[in-house]
Amino acid sequence: MHSFRYVGKELFCEEVPVSVLVKKHGTPLFVYSQATLSDHFTRLDSALAPLDHLICFAMKSNSNRAIIQTFAALGGGFDTVSAGEIQRAVAAGGDPSKCVFAGVGKTEEEIAYALKQGIYCFNVESEPELVRISRIAVKLKKIAPIAVRVNPNVDAHTHAKITTGTYDNKFGIQFENIEAVYARAAKLSNLRLRGLQMHIGSQLTEVNPFRQAVEKVSPLVVRLNNRHGFDFFSIGGGLGIVYQNALESGANGWWKTAAGKKILTPQTYADTLIPLLKPLGLKILLEPGRFLTGNAGALITRVEYIKKTGKKNFVIVDAAMNDLIRPAFYDSFHEIIPLVKKPGKLVSSDVVGPICESGDYFAKDRPLAKVTEGDHLVLLSAGAYGSVMGSNYNSRPLATEILVNGKRSAVVRRHQELTAIWGDESLAPWQK
Ligand code: LLP
Repeated sequence: MHSFRYVGKELFCEEVPVSVLVKKHGTPLFVYSQATLSDHFTRLDSALAPLDHLICFAMKSNSNRAIIQTFAALGGGFDTVSAGEIQRAVAAGGDPSKCVFAGVGKTEEEIAYALKQGIYCFNVESEPELVRISRIAVKLKKIAPIAVRVNPNVDAHTHAKITTGTYDNKFGIQFENIEAVYARAAKLSNLRLRGLQMHIGSQLTEVNPFRQAVEKVSPLVVRLNNRHGFDFFSIGGGLGIVYQNALESGANGWWKTAAGKKILTPQTYADTLIPLLKPLGLKILLEPGRFLTGNAGALITRVEYIKKTGKKNFVIVDAAMNDLIRPAFYDSFHEIIPLVKKPGKLVSSDVVGPICESGDYFAKDRPLAKVTEGDHLVLLSAGAYGSVMGSNYNSRPLATEILVNGKRSAVVRRHQELTAIWGDESLAPWQK
């Protein structure tokens, strides 16, 4: 579902006119709908009800503590990728015993920290990491729960920078080598071989790659479970969302683009995978990120200038690639709509930020309602991999973030003071 919609000419997030938030908090501004967050979690959770399962929210997609708390309160666990993320999850009311810890480069300090916190499982990405975890567990007199991440070598048909399940990627251990790695792990001290994990890529809008991966890996899970006595199988994240025509898709029932193209729903995902997963008799873990947060967020920006060149109509806005890097980084499409609807013809426009890079754009040659200085535009589907990928490039402060719940709204990340940007820096002694 989608909680951004027009009432008359005005864009609302749930029951709050977004223009009221803009007036109060300025721009660039991230606005999140708690109803969408909860709705998406609950839809996925209910669709998977026939399975013993745990949704571990991939907090890399949006790690604001208010977002984490929302999922913790719904019983979610967390897919974390650093000690910082584990600490953040705990600080927001997350339960460490529902946290999995993934990533190819876990440091010794991070492993020790996670062990002391009592996390659910380490998702191990290499043999040297297994050895390292075992050594640290022995030293701390702990038993480390581990799952090896299998790379199933299945093409996820998604953007090259976000595909992870083929042998060209740095992730996981080759399918053919997995059993040997578990045999080796079984001989290492203080490890508990708790499950198997996989993740094939992000923004998958069809069910087939998921089905293929589960079909390919399930027999391996059965063999390993017989040998090592598993608790779980994690099928990773990757459920995609609608980016194009995102607003209409909200009105139409959020999984359908205005062009009528259906995208993968949690129900189809569950209906396809449950018959394959249920016979395993294991707990099933999932690690969705974008599906839970993507359509829950929007980035609001102010039009600063209109600059016409011989070729182009540039709409220069006050948000930039430091706020939302996805178009610059992946050529991603984000729907751009006016905060207040305007009548009139659409104008082909390039929406660009103020940063001194040609890559600092949000849209190219996009038909947009004609806007002028002081108008506001809204970039939809900015809840996932938006604020979390933000930076202070060009000494620009991180954007304010607002959480909406019905008629209520609250600042969940205050506007960053400029001095906070350089607050951790210092001059060298010889410069003083
Ligand atoms: N599990 C693992 C092991 C992952 O690597 C990821 C995402 C997820 C779960 C969550 O994937 P999701 O459900 O959100 O698709 N910054 C990029 C996406 C990077 C995804 C990285 N890994 C973007 O903006 O599209």
